Amino acid sequence: MAADSTMNITILRFDSLTSTNDEAAAQARRGASEGLVVLARSQTMGRGRHGRVWVSEPDAGLYFSVVLRPQLPAAELPLITLIAGIAVCDSLLEFGVKADIKWVNDLLVNEKKICGILAEAVDTPTGLAVILGIGVNLQVAAVAPEFAATGTSLEEVTGKKVTPDEFVECLVRYLTYLYTVLPEEPERILQEWQRRSTYFSGKDVMVKTSTGSFSGLTDGLEHNGALRVKLSDNSIVIVQAGDVEKLRTPATI
Ligand code: BTN
Repeated sequence: MAADSTMNITILRFDSLTSTNDEAAAQARRGASEGLVVLARSQTMGRGRHGRVWVSEPDAGLYFSVVLRPQLPAAELPLITLIAGIAVCDSLLEFGVKADIKWVNDLLVNEKKICGILAEAVDTPTGLAVILGIGVNLQVAAVAPEFAATGTSLEEVTGKKVTPDEFVECLVRYLTYLYTVLPEEPERILQEWQRRSTYFSGKDVMVKTSTGSFSGLTDGLEHNGALRVKLSDNSIVIVQAGDVEKLRTPATI
């Protein structure tokens, strides 16, 4: 493990962890300051939302978690996931890849997932911390064969190998900038997210929540980042948490 520092960021590097989110949460409970970043070359129990596994082959992806101690109204905490999506989107662009953000936490290239984001709240002796975990498929080896149809990597798209260190330098730059914008101009975060997502409005989607599924057309975001979905009777459902999938446009005859 080694540590270095850029701006307010301190980076802890590990060869292998169960999950960088677990290590960052443990550090936060021990009093780590905002800006502590945990990086691992591999994860043995990397996880996504809803208990899904995040395959984390050595050096094939970026396995990143940062400790945040946001001074935000509780209603605005979900916007942290949105700034992470914007920061990854802009970082990917620096490496030549234009990604789409699928609400709320997936980055897609050619409709395949290249990045996932997992934000978790943790109680610590000095108050609430948010652990923002980001996984980016950098190299082809990051995508297990069974996910080849739905996942992609920076290497697959560009033919170039980008290292975790190269990517993290860029990511931290965008993330720290957007994190300072968030409390001052939350509406700007929504606008920036809109510019990078085809899911913002008019997208025919299927939504799965803990209480069931329904389909409709996306209709923008609420102030707290929740997704508005317009049903066929024109009523609006506000989705605070759930999975969204694009519905295929039926072929016309
Ligand atoms: C998702 O798509 O559901 C979220 C995936 C988040 C994966 C990252 S990898 C770094 C951090 N550590 C984890 O265990 N998960 C996140």
